[in-house]
Amino acid sequence: MARITAGVATSHVPAIGAALDNGQTQTDYWRPVFAGYEFSKEWMRREKPDVVILVYNDHASAFGLNLVPTFAIGCGEEFAPADEGWGPRPVPTVKGCPELAWHIMQSVIQDDFDLTVINEMAVDHELTVPLSLMFGQPQAWPCRIIPFAVNVVVYPPPSGRRCYQLGKAIRKAVESFDEDLNVQIWGTGGMSHQLQGPRAGLINQQFDNAFLDRLANDAESLAGIPHINYVREAGSEGIELVMWLIMRGALNARVQELHRFYHVPASNTAVGHMVLKNVE
Ligand code: DHB
Ligand code: FE
Repeated sequence: MARITAGVATSHVPAIGAALDNGQTQTDYWRPVFAGYEFSKEWMRREKPDVVILVYNDHASAFGLNLVPTFAIGCGEEFAPADEGWGPRPVPTVKGCPELAWHIMQSVIQDDFDLTVINEMAVDHELTVPLSLMFGQPQAWPCRIIPFAVNVVVYPPPSGRRCYQLGKAIRKAVESFDEDLNVQIWGTGGMSHQLQGPRAGLINQQFDNAFLDRLANDAESLAGIPHINYVREAGSEGIELVMWLIMRGALNARVQELHRFYHVPASNTAVGHMVLKNVE
């Protein structure tokens, strides 16, 4: 049986990818950001997941205003890095896991969560920056990855509650897959940030830290935050945090917080990161 063993939450700031790709990880500005992931990379080398379900949001690389699925799952064999204007990042192509992806799709759709199927797409910084933070700069990503896209760009986003329940349905799907697989689920994006408008540059450390405090042990009530509160308190892009709730919903009620990191600023955002291990 496949099992979800751990969850990872992390911001996806594109400038982190640029810092890595241009050899700037040891500058005064970036060193503290990358230091926050040292534990996680070491831990990941020991955990050796077979598959990561990577919950992320596309930034107009695969989808545009012409087509905006609320939830979409990558069922293809592979997904190449997208060109976001500076050429594709020099990172490996993502190798998918079509068998598990199709199994999750049929299971969660039968559990009333409608997913869009993606057989072909490019993946942007939202997916590749978390991979770089957790795996470093290998020749090939060390495991298979199922991209799971969530619309948090175009109004209306799915509610935190629905995301949390979807996580539970994903967990049930994984646990009914026959093959023995060590599966992780990652929730990406966040923390507080707003990239445009009069409040551009907004960062709310109090909101972010309260969110981190509640993620491990108070997730049920955290899932009840209405979307408008994210926008008011964490900025328009703070809504990306609902993706962390998909990850959390897919874990056990009891989890152990193995690692937490919070840093301000990185580009226009607060960086938040947490590693949660399932407790039986
Ligand atoms: C920035 C952050 C994001 O989450 C994003 O998607 C694009 C840009 C930023 O801080 O610059
Ligand atoms: Fe973003």
